Amino acid sequence: MKTRAVLILILFIASFVVESKAQQLNIMPWPSEIKMAEGQFVINKNLRISISGNPDKRLQPNLVRFIQQLSKRTTIPFDRDTIITNTEASMIIEVNRQGVVHLGEDESYSLKVENDKIILTAETDLGAMHGLQTLLQLLDRNRKSFFFPCIEINDKPRFAWRGLMIDACRHFIPLEVIKHNIDGMAMVKLNVFHWHLSEDQGFRVESKVFPTLHQLGSNGEFYTQVQIKEVIAYANERGIRVMPEFDIPGHASAWMVGHPELASADGTYKIEKFFGVFDPTIDPTKKETYTFFAKFFKEMSQLFNDEYMHIGGDENNGVQWNENPRIQAFMKKNGIKNNHELQAYFNGNLLKILEKNGKKMIGWDEIFQPTLPKTIVIHSWRGRESMEEAARKGYRSILSSGYYIDLFKNCSEYYLNDPLPDDSKLTAEEQSRILGGEATMWAELVTGESVDSRIWPRTAAIAERLWSPASVKDVDDMYRRLDVINLQLEETGLQHIKNREMMMRRLCNGYNIEPLRVLADAVEPLEGYRRHGSQRYTTEFPLSRVADVALSDAPDFVRFRLRYNDYIKTKNKVSYTKMMDLLEKWSGNQASFNSLAYSNAALREVLPLSDNLKELALITRKLLEQLDSGTVMEEAESDALKIQLEKLKFPVAEMELPLTSLTLEIINQLKNGNKME
Ligand code: ACM
Repeated sequence: MKTRAVLILILFIASFVVESKAQQLNIMPWPSEIKMAEGQFVINKNLRISISGNPDKRLQPNLVRFIQQLSKRTTIPFDRDTIITNTEASMIIEVNRQGVVHLGEDESYSLKVENDKIILTAETDLGAMHGLQTLLQLLDRNRKSFFFPCIEINDKPRFAWRGLMIDACRHFIPLEVIKHNIDGMAMVKLNVFHWHLSEDQGFRVESKVFPTLHQLGSNGEFYTQVQIKEVIAYANERGIRVMPEFDIPGHASAWMVGHPELASADGTYKIEKFFGVFDPTIDPTKKETYTFFAKFFKEMSQLFNDEYMHIGGDENNGVQWNENPRIQAFMKKNGIKNNHELQAYFNGNLLKILEKNGKKMIGWDEIFQPTLPKTIVIHSWRGRESMEEAARKGYRSILSSGYYIDLFKNCSEYYLNDPLPDDSKLTAEEQSRILGGEATMWAELVTGESVDSRIWPRTAAIAERLWSPASVKDVDDMYRRLDVINLQLEETGLQHIKNREMMMRRLCNGYNIEPLRVLADAVEPLEGYRRHGSQRYTTEFPLSRVADVALSDAPDFVRFRLRYNDYIKTKNKVSYTKMMDLLEKWSGNQASFNSLAYSNAALREVLPLSDNLKELALITRKLLEQLDSGTVMEEAESDALKIQLEKLKFPVAEMELPLTSLTLEIINQLKNGNKME
């Protein structure tokens, strides 16, 4: 009996060890089923990998890239002989059939790592490619060697549509930037690249049928058809769909520079340089409009091979429609009661054109109108309600509301935004119509140089929301893993870290950026549309100020927050010391930042922020000491501190200090009798 009890105890402890080890893995998105085992597959030059079954030929270059990445990380020179065809391989990839890069394809995989064997099995090569990404994320090291931990994973996506939209119009995004973003997407198992290609500020695709579209509508910044095909092939090789968006009838100024006859008001048009909603709108009442779009979408349907075509449809302000007597007469004659119905009429005609070209229609939630057939997909951006309403009425939909990564929100907010939360009121059938979601990178406040640092690493957290089980939602663990994935993303060519460094060197006009880095790692750009409130931005702004190198999750503040959460839970002294170290780093930075910035016109605007950081760090230090010694704070003292904090919260140069809200939490904790959990 006693032996049994001891055995049970040992098993209990062993399972705890296995569990806590699994917690320390850095996989993102987290797999649906994962079982740790004892042992390691040690990686050495003898690694041999074979592919069996019937995969698409794209698996081979993916495996080559896997080996190159493994080689670089481990510094082991794997050669061409690593991939073999016989069964002697220590790593076997078994694929049943060729995957097709379209909505709903099987992307599942199983991965088993044993001491002397790795077996990756998948129905399609797309699943096998996901498995290779997981394996790379499992790579670990000790003093002697690199290894994969023994493990068993069965994994599949929760949602079939997991996208990233990049707006290449407000600012043009160079081809190379698009490509390395596709690599980043592949790393975190996203599968739709939504390319926003027409806007008031630019028409970005070469059209051979209507060449003045790009010649006059783009300031010379557009993608040639050869480049588009290159991107589609590049994405296809990585298991990613490329869905174009041509935003009509509103957001359409750039179309009309070369084709003023498309507009609903006579006149000449120019490429817009401001941001917002503008009047130029396609005329939906003229036959010629549909003759034009029949030719246009025929050309674009042949160029883009995805089965979906995004027609935008958002934010049509209706001004040109309201002011045009001919359009008003048309509406009256045809019993069209309002602009929403007129847009539905337009969409109905577009739908026929798209269907003729073998395409399915998707558009922003404004296109939702029950007269349209159930084949269209609603892309919800104004709120999840539109997605749910569409699902209730029998339409499929995807969610972007809550995934607007241009809005500088904290990653945790995006992460916890579940298309189907636990309390969703939708029936199972309605839920099955929610296809997934997309992170949206609108480009008003980014350039090709900064866009990566706005997309990554945050999009990895959204990717996890869309791939992993709903129950995976520990925010602190997400931030912990995100910090690791952040560095791995850099290996794909993403410039989110190195360009930020370059931008800081440029701001500092020298190599010594340390004082700026300390400040920039502690501050965040203003959230939402608040940056636009301080000045009227245009496409001509260089976006090279300190606010443009500040990140929405200030890295040092995130570290501080994680330490604080741990300290509150456990009273862990290590966390306490780490917090104190950070506070000292912040308060001690003021003098060096001052000497760097005082005579530097690009940095001077942030001097008050650096002063505020010092003051805030000193306050917070004192509060932490009180917290640690169990002090209870008097009402009067907490009131005085709160007034001081209000002043420190005030935005400077379109940035603010996230520490202010945590310091307020500490004050409340002290006031409420310093009760720990
Ligand atoms: C949108 O953000 N106007 C779709």
